[in-house]
This record gives sequence, C-alpha cells and structure tokens, in this order.
Amino acid sequence: MVQDQRPGNRVNHASGTIEIAGKTVHRLGFGAMRVVGPDLWGEPVDRAGSVRLVRRAVELGVDFIDTAAVYGPHVSEVIIREALHPYPEHVLITTKGGQTQSGPGVYATLGRPEFLRQECVLSLRRLGVDHIDLYQLHQVDPKVPFEDQIGELVQLKEEGKIGAIGLNEVTVDQIVAARRITEIASVENQYSITERKHEDVLDYCTREGLPFVSWFPLDMGPLAQPDSPLRDLAARIDATPAQVALAWLLARAENMVPIPGTSSTAHLEENIAAATVRLSPAQLKELNTAVG
Ligand SMILES: NC(=O)c1ccc[n+]([C@@H]2O[C@H](COP(=O)([O-])OP(=O)(O)OC[C@H]3O[C@@H](n4cnc5c(N)ncnc54)[C@H](OP(=O)(O)O)[C@@H]3O)[C@@H](O)[C@H]2O)c1
Repeated sequence: MVQDQRPGNRVNHASGTIEIAGKTVHRLGFGAMRVVGPDLWGEPVDRAGSVRLVRRAVELGVDFIDTAAVYGPHVSEVIIREALHPYPEHVLITTKGGQTQSGPGVYATLGRPEFLRQECVLSLRRLGVDHIDLYQLHQVDPKVPFEDQIGELVQLKEEGKIGAIGLNEVTVDQIVAARRITEIASVENQYSITERKHEDVLDYCTREGLPFVSWFPLDMGPLAQPDSPLRDLAARIDATPAQVALAWLLARAENMVPIPGTSSTAHLEENIAAATVRLSPAQLKELNTAVG
C-alpha cells in the first residue's frame, strides 16, 4: 500500500481517499456552513474562533471543505479565505451558487443563468482565486430550464472560472440528464443513517464511480446528542454517537464523503476522530436493523 504522505496529522488519514475534481482528498470532509453568525446569518460571534476552527480542520487532515455563497450569505467563504489563503495545494474547497438568503432562514432557489454567473464570479472574488476546482449548482430551480442552469456552468467551465461541476439535492433522472449535457464530478445530497431518502441516488453514484457527498450527516445534530439512537453501540465500542454516525457513513459506500458541520473545535476534533472508528459487519447489521 502506498503511504499517504500529504500534510496534516494522521487523524483523518484513516478515512481513506477519493478523487474529486482531479484532486485526491480524504473522505471525511468539513461542512463550513456553521462558521457564520447565529441562525446561519451574518458575522460569527467569535470571528477569530471561526478562523481557528477552519485552520484546525486542515491540521487534522481535512482537505475537502464545503461552502456556499448563501452561507452567511458570503460570510463562510470570507472566513475560509481568511483562514487558509493562500490555499495549500492539497486542499479542495468547493462552493456553490443558486440560492438566496434574504434574512435569517429565509431561503429561495434562483437558478437563472445570469445569477449563477454572478454568484460564481463573486465567489471567486471572496475566496481570492481565479479558478474554483469544484463549483456546484446549489439546487435545481424548477422555474428555469434545467439545460440553461447546467449550460451556464458549462460556459463558466469553458472560461476557466471553474474546474468541475457538481450537483446538489438531485434525483437519478436529473443526474442522467445533466450528464447528457456535460461531465458531472460529484453529487451532494442529504443522507445520514436516519435519513435515507436518497438511497437510489447513492447506489447510482456508487455504480457510476461518482463521489457522493452527504450533507446533514448527523441529521443536523440529533445523532450526536446524548439521547442519540446510536448511544448504546457507541458506549459499547468506546466511541461517541457522532463518531458512530460518521463511521457508519464511511462504511456505507466507498464513494461516500460525509461533511459534518460544527461551530465547535471540540466537536470538530471528535468528528474527525471518527475516521479511526471501524464498525464490524455485525455492528453495521445491528445499526441497520435498529436505526435504518
Ligand atoms: N448541499 C446542500 O444543499 C446543503 C444543505 C445543508 C448543509 N450542507 C452542508 O452540509 C454540512 C453539514 O450540515 P450541518 O452542519 O447542518 O449538519 P450536521 O453536520 O448533520 O450537524 C451539525 C449539527 O450537529 C452539531 N454537532 C456537530 N458535531 C457534533 C458533536 N460531535 N457533538 C454534538 N453535536 C455536534 C452541530 O452543533 P455545534 O456547532 O454545537 O457542534 C450542529 O448543530 C454543512 O456545514 C454544509 O456544508 C449542504
């Protein structure tokens, strides 16, 4: 086996690697939606703490960081730039466009080509780069022809502003339709041990060798709490419920890339240590029966 020589301490190296948009990254990533203000709106209460959190993720061996223009809005991208620019070559930062947030929790989908273009150009500016390795359509806008939304991303790729195109919260039919237009590098859908509505999408991506990024891997928190449905098994194997939730995901499929989000360094360290938690076939079966 080839020794993994990339920087960062060894914690995350046990999660294994996957190729996304031409870069080899560790499968346990970091979701940077929570480095912003309360209710995911505005500036973080502890800005320096948010910057330290992002740096700590990379120290722990995280090299896949998920963000979006709408997180804050704009704040998450700016914090990432402050924490990591100039970006280490091995780190893949992916961002997305196609959603608005006009007040705390007030979201809308907007996939008009001119907005997608503006989103991309402003993300380039905020991240301080002239090229985004992986740019994702945040949501398919049913009011705009699908081929126009994908078509604009193709245009941005041809101009060199983005390196690869990813999709979010899509059906198998939508992935197939997009792949008829252009190459798709990744799919990012909601998925956790307690929320498996996209099982068919995951299976399709596994068959096709497409990375599947799971958002809400802790089901937005309940899987990590003391009353988690995973607490009994966690106690037996000397792990935490959050670690069991993430270890289950990593074991579920080789193309699975969980991106747990947190605003806490202690939680980040706990979550990345899940890379070293191995569930036996019997334990996986037990979880699938009890929780699935
Ligand atoms: N593509 C999309 O449409 C989409 C949509 C939503 C999210 N996302 C991405 O997915 C990422 C993950 O989503 P998420 O952050 O909302 O959900 P999540 O990872 O399922 O859960 C995060 C929640 O769990 C808590 N938590 C995290 N680790 C914990 C631990 N070890 N112990 C106890 N509590 C813990 C966090 O609180 P603390 O802050 O207190 O740790 C937070 O409330 C986001 O950051 C974002 O990058 C993508």
